[in-house]
Amino acid sequence: MITRAIVDPHKPRRPIPLKTLDPQFVRALFPAFQEPSLADQAFFESAGGSYPCRFVTERLERFYRERKVQPYWAFPASRVGGDEMDEARKRLSGMLGVEPDEVAFGPSTTQNVYVLAQAFREWLEPGDAIVVTNQDHEANTGAWRRLAQSGIEVREWQIDPETGQLNPETLKPLLKGARLLCFPHCSNVIGEINDVAAITRLASAAGVATCVDGVSYAPHGFPNVADLGCDIYMFSAYKTYGPHQGIMVVRRDLGEMLPAQCHDFNKDALYKRFTPAGDDHAQVAACAGMADYVDTLYAEMGGPQAPPASRAAAVHDAMRARETELLEPLLDFLATKNSLRVIGPLDARKRAPTVGILANRPGEDIASDLAAHNINAGGGDFYSPRPLKAIGIDPAHGLLRLSFTHYTSDAELDRLISALDHVL
Ligand SMILES: Cc1ncc(COP(=O)(O)O)c(C=O)c1O
Repeated sequence: MITRAIVDPHKPRRPIPLKTLDPQFVRALFPAFQEPSLADQAFFESAGGSYPCRFVTERLERFYRERKVQPYWAFPASRVGGDEMDEARKRLSGMLGVEPDEVAFGPSTTQNVYVLAQAFREWLEPGDAIVVTNQDHEANTGAWRRLAQSGIEVREWQIDPETGQLNPETLKPLLKGARLLCFPHCSNVIGEINDVAAITRLASAAGVATCVDGVSYAPHGFPNVADLGCDIYMFSAYKTYGPHQGIMVVRRDLGEMLPAQCHDFNKDALYKRFTPAGDDHAQVAACAGMADYVDTLYAEMGGPQAPPASRAAAVHDAMRARETELLEPLLDFLATKNSLRVIGPLDARKRAPTVGILANRPGEDIASDLAAHNINAGGGDFYSPRPLKAIGIDPAHGLLRLSFTHYTSDAELDRLISALDHVL
């Protein structure tokens, strides 16, 4: 059983008073917004992959130009390359409120989950139970469900068929005797933000470890993983303004107990235990650019000297405030369209700006029509057929999904709403 003191999320952290985010300043930090070939395009597919910030593209380019060699040897290019990879892990861990060796990189979140599922396959005994949801993206559910082939009992925490919500009351009976609970911080099609701290408290009280898919949440502000109280937290850097990497936090007590999935001689380093293959050195190093980005926004907003997790928390709150301000008019507009079903809450504060819309035409067709108006969006099931089916939507018909983040401009929002008026 994993026992760790969980920070009481009801005890508010004292917020650092800052200026609000300056949209012009933010956009100047993204090469894509200066790129002539993209100038006419309004981008609403951030949930599929965000634009990278310039700190990341610059670090990536510098790595490839100056230090694209095997890292961690004594010669200068190799040593500096290794230092940058360590810097990325250390700075991300500071923002996430955990230790540097609790942060590991992998090719993607799907692959990170796959590796962790193999560790659990070895650790669990036939007859042990795990709990998965039908709200998750396939990445945080399929690999876990396949543990049934090894005699593991797989219980499903089901969403409400009307609202798509996960209700903690229905979780409680499923936790009895279970070893692991896997659930999302935010679904990529429902959009509602789950109260991770409350859910991990329930799980922890029942002696159940927790694995949280933060892929759809982290782009909207890096969370303090220690405050959330989960044992595993995963997200994908290519959606958080970074390079194409999966990032996983595995807290020490669980990570040291689970069977390692790496080369035998690497297993004493916690951050190597669930990384079977070599890292993508340049991309790992470039992940430090995401911390540069957070620190640059913090400084611009006038933040005083503060530890990394406090800086990240302040930037998180500023990003959420900006997104909420942008999302409200879109939700208000969509609420006037009787022919549509907006998936997830209509209250912008309760959700990510990842808005799934069911219309009388397939989502992909509407996304194609929007492309003709230079609005970039996607349509389909977004690798989340389970939640769609559970709320009565045929994945083949699918949703139109409009997703954005704090870097989106008011002008883009206006263009989106007027294009929607034409195509819906
Ligand atoms: C909520 C969610 N979880 C997991 C994933 C999978 O992430 P990756 O592409 O890094 O495997 C995605 C990808 O879109 C996602 O939206």
